[in-house]
Amino acid sequence: MRFASFVFGLLLCSAAIASATAAAPPALIPLPAQLERGEGSLRVDAGMPVVVEPGDAGARATADYFADLVQRTRGLALPVREAAASGPSIRLQRDPHAPVTQAEGYTLDIDAQGVRIRARDQAGLFYGAVTLWQLLTPDAQRGAVNLPALHIRDWPRFAWRGLMLDSARHFQSVDEVEQLLEQMARHKLNVFHWHLTDDQGWRIEIKRYPELTRIGAWRTPPGAGQDGEPARYGGYYTQEQIRQVVAYAAARHITIVPELDMPGHAQAAIASYPWLGVTGKTPSVSVDWGVNPWLYNVDDASFDFVDHVLDEVMALFPSPYIHVGGDEAIKDQWQASPAVQAKLHALGLKDEDALQGWFIGRVGDYLKAHGRRLIGWDEILEGQVPADATVMSWRGTQGAVEAARKGHDVVLSPSPELYLDGLQSDRADETSGRLPAHDLASYYAFEPVPKGLSADQARHVLGAQANAWTEHMPSYRHVEHAVFPRLAALAEATWSPAATHDWRSFLARLPAQLARYRTAGVDYADSAFAVDIHVDANTALASGTARVSLSNQAGYGQLHYTVDGTPPDLHAPRYRQPFALKLPATVRAAAFADDGSPLAAPRERVLNAAQLRSRLGGELVNCPGSDFRLRVQPSPDASALATAYDINVFDTCQRYLQASLDQVTSVHVEAVRLPRNYALAHDAKLVVSRPAATPFGELVVHRDRCDGPVLASLPLPDPARSPARFDLDGPLAAQHGVHDLCLIYTAPIDGPLYAIGRIALRPQGATP
Ligand code: ACM
Repeated sequence: MRFASFVFGLLLCSAAIASATAAAPPALIPLPAQLERGEGSLRVDAGMPVVVEPGDAGARATADYFADLVQRTRGLALPVREAAASGPSIRLQRDPHAPVTQAEGYTLDIDAQGVRIRARDQAGLFYGAVTLWQLLTPDAQRGAVNLPALHIRDWPRFAWRGLMLDSARHFQSVDEVEQLLEQMARHKLNVFHWHLTDDQGWRIEIKRYPELTRIGAWRTPPGAGQDGEPARYGGYYTQEQIRQVVAYAAARHITIVPELDMPGHAQAAIASYPWLGVTGKTPSVSVDWGVNPWLYNVDDASFDFVDHVLDEVMALFPSPYIHVGGDEAIKDQWQASPAVQAKLHALGLKDEDALQGWFIGRVGDYLKAHGRRLIGWDEILEGQVPADATVMSWRGTQGAVEAARKGHDVVLSPSPELYLDGLQSDRADETSGRLPAHDLASYYAFEPVPKGLSADQARHVLGAQANAWTEHMPSYRHVEHAVFPRLAALAEATWSPAATHDWRSFLARLPAQLARYRTAGVDYADSAFAVDIHVDANTALASGTARVSLSNQAGYGQLHYTVDGTPPDLHAPRYRQPFALKLPATVRAAAFADDGSPLAAPRERVLNAAQLRSRLGGELVNCPGSDFRLRVQPSPDASALATAYDINVFDTCQRYLQASLDQVTSVHVEAVRLPRNYALAHDAKLVVSRPAATPFGELVVHRDRCDGPVLASLPLPDPARSPARFDLDGPLAAQHGVHDLCLIYTAPIDGPLYAIGRIALRPQGATP
């Protein structure tokens, strides 16, 4: 049944919504399925009781959770009672006849008499309480709240509303994992996919196989003990801790789906027990990001191991689904192993992909015999995948289409659409991650049901999931930066009806969500709103006056700026059009929501001749021929947030576009040396080697094209005798006019990588 008078989903499609403030939806994320405003309002102040039915332990738990959350985030003490109270109250009722019939659904009614939340199941009651909590936190204030009269009927669009955390590449403490689970609950997300094993670490205690965590949980980083790098990196979760985390999640109606990746991504396991592999060799736990070659053996001993590990995993995780990975298992080791080849032929299989299918099928049988279901990455479709396996589609959405057509359930978690390791902007001040940037608007635009499915096939889409791969997230601050606020966009994609999707509406509701993050101490990314301060550098250099324009990625909010060194607040001039500024000058700018709350921290740009003749590494572009680009911290496992540098592991060649070379006589480069810790598998042959003229290579500056005239050649220092960050200085052949520069490091490709922190072009007598 739909509300006859007013359904937000319809209204939101109208372009007029921005000015329709009277009817603007409350700042709820995800937006409820149906919402209708009533007459009047209700003031919720400290002391208003939260009432549950006597003896309903689930409702009591939700009421306690809700009251605690409101106390902590709004400062209102709401007593929980198991008996009717006189006067206005907040009633939480689990009721088999509640009007919303969908699983996890609820109704929430607010009038002058109080709040009433009704649901048929405990999850629905919990989500009703989360919605009420959001209504009580429309801003970062504390104290009483006036709620408008409302009638909400709400239920999720999808049953799988997921977030994957990779705890193998970098390890998060139990407290950090719980912080993430708590935020998931506040977004009505309900599946936490926990990536617990990989080449770089085994993170779950298995009692029967203690070496997995004694050896497999630890690695020795490149440059161990130097430059902020730990001597040893790692960690693991004890079974006791895992039980605690599972219970913490369950209390928030979140299922934890553990992942044990196999048959590839097995290097840490094989480092612990070499007989699990096929080569007879003992690798160390990997420190290389990418695709490593180590595969599990396919003999009985391997399957005994997997079965025993699964026994302990199933005892810890009540999830109906167990994730067995299946991704990126390059087959070189199986191809080279006579024993594996003999097995393949004895089984009558045609190739190694079929062998992987057989492997996954065996594991699936074991799970099935124990009442569990197998889920795996979409590569499991390449072999004979069990008919009831669920497929997680990550290589785009084609795997999901194929799987659903074959009758498999599917979860959408495509790269790059739902991957969180992609940077959210190409701003030079972004932390580490993959490029090109994947902005909030495109994240929000994701539609979980791929095109090309019939209605019947579309029913196999269980939902969608965001994936936080942590190669370049060494600390939890990095994780938070990557996850928030994109998690809010995912919440809406997986919960709210498709017809309600509206980017401008989402933006209007986001400031309240950002305020909730600030209250909770969540270090979210403000990349969508950070102010970009644009000038045409060469015009400014030539004329002594900069024409400044301001914008932000989302095109949203009020931009305020100063040019007098003071911090830009709401009293500072509001930006309306480009303005002229005599050099030298410093522009500071920040973005604010309509209610005056901050959208982005202030950004600053110094405008003087030296700055206008320089570029940060993040402002350079790749040379033609290779579009791979990654931003990394020089110490891969250093847990502090540090300056990150753009690299291209295939070709250390960058371009400085449109450099003004008049009067320039020298070049200064802030350079950095980084470990080349990348496992490129079959792509290793694509790495470009450039001939070096001096023992450790040099940075060569070419004019116009990468094979153009050489303007400068700056020899690199001996890596063994110089710090990781060093300056390069040298003369630059005199030129006139504006030219592109091509900057090539010629260091040998079996040694470290080099990147550019900043490059400055200097006229005679200029100071740094
Ligand atoms: C994956 O990103 N390797 C599933």
